[in-house]
Amino acid sequence: MLDTAVARSATIAGELVMHTNTASDLLQEVRARLRRARRVFVLTGAGVSAESGVPTFRGGGNAAVWKGMPFSLISSAEMLERDLPAVWEWFDYRRDALKDLQPNPAHHALAKMQDNLDSFALGTQNIDDLHTRAGSRGVLELHGNIWRARCTRCQARIDLRTADEGERPPACRTCGAPMRPDVVLFGEMLPAGVFERAAAAAMRCDLCFVVGTSALVYPAMQLPEIALQAGAYIVEINPEQTPFSDRCHATLQGRAGEVLKAVTSDG
Ligand code: OAD
Repeated sequence: MLDTAVARSATIAGELVMHTNTASDLLQEVRARLRRARRVFVLTGAGVSAESGVPTFRGGGNAAVWKGMPFSLISSAEMLERDLPAVWEWFDYRRDALKDLQPNPAHHALAKMQDNLDSFALGTQNIDDLHTRAGSRGVLELHGNIWRARCTRCQARIDLRTADEGERPPACRTCGAPMRPDVVLFGEMLPAGVFERAAAAAMRCDLCFVVGTSALVYPAMQLPEIALQAGAYIVEINPEQTPFSDRCHATLQGRAGEVLKAVTSDG
């Protein structure tokens, strides 16, 4: 189940935290923390959707280059200015790759976690909508949603699953201006209010999970840092070490679906 026990001692916020136990002991510790937790905040990244078949961006995922262009260029504000149809083509390609994929046990476990808690917030860097499809409510979509488009002029939005007439770029039905994918591109700010709501939840939580993210992209990664500073117990779930691993109280090394299922199981 869990690949490796992470035995570590770390000084976190001035407190010496010792984990010299097995993967199974660490899992039990995290399960006990979850049972006692009053407010939970979760940050997810591409690794959560990996078991659904969504490629990750880094570390062997294949979403990093498209038609010879690095992801950071085709998904950039600069490209939106220069070539909006190319940006649409790229996101149409990604939507097409996503359309038949289903939520996996990691998404379902997080939806179940929410069902059992009075205070729960989930911030995701993913734009695939799989958390919501698994039943998570109020998902804070830090990087937007690939199934939505928004007007470049007036903020009107459409759901591309139900209102896509195939025109590229679609013309806004309110003001006629071209629409764009409602996702955050490199060089852009996060959607107004979403980061702030996530930061407020991170500040208040007593238990924070950081799942399936390389921990490289800011400001999303500020969220677990805020939780850490505020005194929360931080659990990372990832098959690989990340730059944030050494700052977590517990690292459960393994695939998100398996680990989260174990963390949230009733037995
Ligand atoms: P990355 O592709 O950078 O990292 C994926 C992480 O998932 C890595 O740390 C993997 O080790 C881990 N991983 C892979 N398989 C896993 C599994 N089955 N279970 C758990 N973890 C697994 O993706 P993100 O950190 O999400 O931004 O990337 C952050 C942002 O960078 C993305 O939202 C995107 C990208 O640029 C924008 O598009 C604005």
